[in-house]
Amino acid sequence: MNSFKNTVGFITGGASGIGLGVARALGERGMTLVLADIEHDALEAARSDLSSQGIQVHTEILDVRDANAFRDVADRTLATHGKLNFLFNNAGVGAGYALSGNTPLDDWRWVMDVNVMGVVNGIECFLPAMQESGEPGYIINTASLGGLVAQPGGGPYITSKFAVVGYSEVLQLELEGSKIDVSVLCPAWVKTRIAQSLRNHPDPTRAAENYEGEAGGRYSRIIEAEGISVTSVGERVIAGMAAKNFYLFTHPSHWRFLEERISRITTEYQHILPSNNLTDSH
Ligand code: NAI
Repeated sequence: MNSFKNTVGFITGGASGIGLGVARALGERGMTLVLADIEHDALEAARSDLSSQGIQVHTEILDVRDANAFRDVADRTLATHGKLNFLFNNAGVGAGYALSGNTPLDDWRWVMDVNVMGVVNGIECFLPAMQESGEPGYIINTASLGGLVAQPGGGPYITSKFAVVGYSEVLQLELEGSKIDVSVLCPAWVKTRIAQSLRNHPDPTRAAENYEGEAGGRYSRIIEAEGISVTSVGERVIAGMAAKNFYLFTHPSHWRFLEERISRITTEYQHILPSNNLTDSH
């Protein structure tokens, strides 16, 4: 998809960070946007910011974990706009650094609910209408490079993002040959408030915690040092959609981590091949 005039897009986590960066890039090119987010004030600020640029934007307060609320918002969006061309399942959270054996179960449930079930809810609510409309469509799910390369201390986050990559691969296979394309966004560090995700934790005690301690501070520092801008992610998404890239990577310097994983899998697989050679197995 590279023409966005007369198209409608729905973006979760659209009030800030990557969601807002991508919204701006698409809105500037003529897409009408529905931004859905759990944060009222940020959503209002995003609406007024984008509108002042002449972008058509509507907002919906939504907790992506809530399947019924998601259904209501999706029905309202389709009734108002008559169709949906672009679905960006982007809302996501991290619970900070914690080693396995010392990770609160509530953090596991929260991260999996937002990062995985939020994506599932988006697909279940919108995909049938996108298919029935016969219009060109595009679905992007936000995973992370952490959806392909593990790191210690991020059990729930990494697990959820591997799930988003896996589910996106399923969607790509299921929608092959249709008018709906699929991509999975896999950035490394981006300058956003992801390290302050606990602000939206359902447990008020956790939400009130100063997130500049060991948990969030570690990631804040890396993002400050290495993060790229949401504007550049927006441009990467536009280019990726035009080229129909499935994996939307953003950080050339991080290839080495993926290469190491691929090479480890290749080496381990060789052990069970009779000829000890992957190319002879076909
Ligand atoms: P952010 O914290 O700036 O934005 C996330 C947005 O999601 C916020 O507006 C927040 O209010 C919203 N949100 C949180 N919980 C929600 C819920 N239950 N329902 C609806 N909205 C909710 O963070 P960022 O970085 O923009 O995050 C966007 C996506 O990018 C996430 O899926 C994140 O995991 C992913 N990502 C971020 C990276 C980074 O370095 N910033 C790297 C790789 C992936």
